[in-house]
Amino acid sequence: MGFLATPARRHGLLFLCLWHSTWASSVEECVDGSVELLQRHLRVLEEDETDRRLQAALPMFWLHIPKCGTTFVNTLINMHHFCPSAGENFDLSLLAPHECFNPVFAMCQSFCNPNFLECYEHPSAMHSPVGNATEYARRKGKLVGFFRQPEQRVLSAYYDGHGWLEDFSNPDSSKFLFRCNLSYTGYPLQDLLEAFKGTMAAQIASPHDIIPFVHQPPRDLALGHQAVQRLREGFAFVGLTEEWDLSICLFHAMFGGPCHSSEFHNARPGQHAKDADGLYDTSILQGYQDEIDGLVYAEAVRLFRQNLAVHNVSVDSCQRCFAEAEATRVHT
Ligand SMILES: *[C@@H]1O[C@H](CO)[C@@H](O)[C@H](O)[C@H]1NC(C)=O
Ligand SMILES: *[C@@H]1O[C@H](CO)[C@@H](O)[C@H](O)[C@H]1NC(C)=O
Ligand SMILES: *[C@@H]1O[C@H](CO)[C@@H](O)[C@H](O)[C@H]1NC(C)=O
Repeated sequence: MGFLATPARRHGLLFLCLWHSTWASSVEECVDGSVELLQRHLRVLEEDETDRRLQAALPMFWLHIPKCGTTFVNTLINMHHFCPSAGENFDLSLLAPHECFNPVFAMCQSFCNPNFLECYEHPSAMHSPVGNATEYARRKGKLVGFFRQPEQRVLSAYYDGHGWLEDFSNPDSSKFLFRCNLSYTGYPLQDLLEAFKGTMAAQIASPHDIIPFVHQPPRDLALGHQAVQRLREGFAFVGLTEEWDLSICLFHAMFGGPCHSSEFHNARPGQHAKDADGLYDTSILQGYQDEIDGLVYAEAVRLFRQNLAVHNVSVDSCQRCFAEAEATRVHT
């Protein structure tokens, strides 16, 4: 877009303006007018670029890694044309009391346009993986998702009461409804660490159907490196749970669409105390680190920062988006 801002082009606009001097009573007005015209041109070019980027990423596939921000579904559903019958400022948390989101995810097929958003095959698959080579080839460049520091992620699961270590593989309703039962608080920490280890990597790069946490084949560093590769080449958008507001703002800077209040509140706030930065105290892990998912997370952070720079997104530049969202807040 740089060519429009060249002095030659600016002189051209000024010349045009002076030539039509009946519309402008002074040189100053001409200069003001041509600057305004130039800015309008730049805006149109920017919108074209945003639209081109969006078209290339359709239909989007949301890689929903457990404990990485269910609220993002509100962003996707509220994008223009994605889910036409969902209604303005759709808010999943209002439809899904007691954090029981599965029945709402199941509705995706009925109210979203498959040319814009790929819904999951069946409701128990709300954490669908990217898939094998064929599936990845189809979804490459259209993947969007949030990532979270691995030790924070597993602690979030440790405290949340979901039945993470139950058998999710049976899609029958009695099985998937236990996802809505929040009384599973007694898992030994060690079992959860084992079950979660490398599962961000697996969800991105494993060729196996890896929905349940039990029955997962072992994960290793090689899988972590494959996931990093797919993250680099296959993802249209990478957000960070730790940088929620900035991530949502970045998404709109990249793909357009209005900012809504429903995207910003945490649909699933954890009950357990966190520190001032919103982080769990990791001392109970006694130094444990998930090295496989650590690779994935480090790459996600790198891509996120790179995109902030490329799209000039900062807390400052996001004030308009935040204000726009605040204006849509429903006061009860
Ligand atoms: C890839 O995964 C899809 C969906 O699970 C499956 O239908 C297909 O048979 C798999 N292809 C290969 C080559 O394994
Ligand atoms: C929820 O899970 C607990 C086991 O952790 C079980 O005892 C209880 O019956 C379940 N409640 C429902 C409504 O399924
Ligand atoms: C980046 O955003 C800031 C506002 O936050 C603005 O002042 C600046 O001109 C922008 N830079 C570019 C290159 O768009």
